[in-house]
Parts: sequence; structure tokens; C-alpha cells
Amino acid sequence: MNTADLNAYICDLPKAELHLHIEGTLEPELIFKLAARNHIAMPYASVEALRAAYAFTDLQSFLDLYYAGASVLITEQDFYDMTMAYLQRARADGVLHAEIMFDPQTHTARGVAIETVFAGIVRALRDARATTGISSYLLMSFLRHLSEQDAFDTLAAALPLRAQYADVWIGIGLDSAELGNPPGKFARIFARCKELGFRLVAHAGEEGPAAYVRDALEVLHVERIDHGVRSEDDPALMQRLIRDQVPLTVCPLSNLKLCVVEALSQHNLARLLRQGAMITINSDDPAYFGGYVGQNYLAVAQALDLNKRELTTLARNSLLASFLPADTKQRLLDSQDL
Ligand code: ADE
Ligand code: ZN
Repeated sequence: MNTADLNAYICDLPKAELHLHIEGTLEPELIFKLAARNHIAMPYASVEALRAAYAFTDLQSFLDLYYAGASVLITEQDFYDMTMAYLQRARADGVLHAEIMFDPQTHTARGVAIETVFAGIVRALRDARATTGISSYLLMSFLRHLSEQDAFDTLAAALPLRAQYADVWIGIGLDSAELGNPPGKFARIFARCKELGFRLVAHAGEEGPAAYVRDALEVLHVERIDHGVRSEDDPALMQRLIRDQVPLTVCPLSNLKLCVVEALSQHNLARLLRQGAMITINSDDPAYFGGYVGQNYLAVAQALDLNKRELTTLARNSLLASFLPADTKQRLLDSQDL
């Protein structure tokens, strides 16, 4: 298939996006627009100069720019505009349902109220659902480079908002610098969130070792692993992930940009998929890594020579691995002939 046909085939596949940081969808153009609107001086002369700085050597080199970029988000409207821009792009890529992470600590540490963050994001999610039909859930993520106490304080600030946002805020995640911040550091807060009835996910096995994936399952009791590509270093763990069909939310262009893999042709996702692992394809921080979810599918289809059946399996996996109710999942799978 030529690229245009392959792209059309991929866009037509009904899919969910399960690993997406909303702050990672802030395009340089929107960063500049919000900086001007909020009278914030930018340390880059132009959109092009900012984009040129997106040359990362590892996760931390990206996180430094990602947190700096997020500092232009001040008002409820800023969070709304960012979220709506993502939902429109996702819809164009054939995304029916998105499970979106956000990092409240990045904003509250700068004096932005958590109420402002929730209000802007959720208003966009509800508007997009009403106008385009795209459905979405929110996963509030704790920053693992900060303390356990900071995570507990964030949960305490967010819980009074839970009833008001119960239609979307269904889960908890764990992101930011992985190495040196093992899952065990967050065992107690994840236990509390589980008691509260939240769905649980965590980043593990991106830069960190396979042991962090094991700990995310056994200590944090997560239902999905974000990334998880280093699980293959531990064959017994990999067998367990396949046996239990634990979803891995893999982000190929992210792995390439953050030097987790040297080339997409060396990515292990096709091998793991062919071994029966529950692999899904996602964009992570698309404004920083050069592509939204459709471009991630396209890039791996070409680099790893995935056939139509395998692309369909990846899209089907994304719906199966979502936190949608079982009957909704089944209806989507049936209606889309997947
Ligand atoms: N926050 C945003 N993107 C991330 C990633 N790929 N890994 C860890 N934390 C993140
Ligand atoms: Zn991520």
C-alpha cells in the first residue's frame, strides 16, 4: 500500500487513545499564543526556535522543556483551548475514545488552582462529546519526582471535586522521571486510590527496568502499564503479561525521540504483538514527539512492516484495554466490525 492509502486505512480504524498527556499536546504555536495572552515572556524568539529545541537525549531532557512549556497555562480558558485542540486532532485520526492524563502538580506548584485545571479540561471534554461524539476519561497523574506527601496533598485537594466530575475523572496515573523513583515510593497513595475506587495505571519500563513493571503490578496493583517496553528484559515477566493480557500502552515516536530505541525498525512492539501481548499504540506527548496517534500507527506500520490484520488488532486492543464499561466496548467492537 502507498503511504496515502495506508494512512486512510489507519484513520478509518476505530480506536481509543490510552496514553496521552494533555500538557504534551501543547503545540509551539499555542504556547506562543497563550504566553502572549497571559503576558508571559518566552525564552525563545519564535515558534521555529522553540520547535528546534525539541532535540532530546533522554526522558529528563524532554521533561525540562515539557514543564517549561506548561507554564503558559494560567486560566480555565487556556486548559480548555489546549484540550479542545487535542480532541479535534484525535477525532480526525479516528479516535472514538481517549483516556487523558493530566499533571495537576505542574500547575498548582505555580499557583494555579486545581479547580481551574479541572474546570477547563472537563468543559472541553464535555463539549467535544456533545458536538462530535468523542468520549473521554481523565486520569489524574502524580509526578513521581515529587514526594509521597505531595501526592497525598494533591489527592486531598482534588477529592472535593470528584462528584462534580464523576462522568470523566475515573482514574489515577504515575508519570515523570522514572529512574530512581520506583513504584514502591507510591505504594500507600495507590492503595488509597484503589480503596476510593479509582482505576489505576502507571508508567513503568520506559527508561526504568523490568523490575519496575513487576512492582507496578504487584505493589501498585495497576491494571495497565504505560510504556512497559523494557518488560522484555525479564522473560518470566513477559510471559505473565501475555498470560494475563496486561495492556501495554506503547508510544513508538516517543520511544524514538527519547532514545529508548535507536530506530523504529528496532522497536520490540511488533515482536511482542506477534507473541500475543496486549499491545496498544499511543502518542504520549504528540506536540513534542512529531506525531499524533495516527502518525504513530503509520510510522510503525512502515518501519515494522505491519499488515492490515495486525493494524486492526492494535486498534481492537485499544478499545479492549480501555476503561469503558464492558457493554460499551462490545457495542463499539460490534458496530465497527472489529
Ligand atoms: N510525562 C509526560 N510524558 C512522559 C513520559 N513519556 N514518561 C514519563 N513522564 C511523562
Ligand atoms: Zn507518558
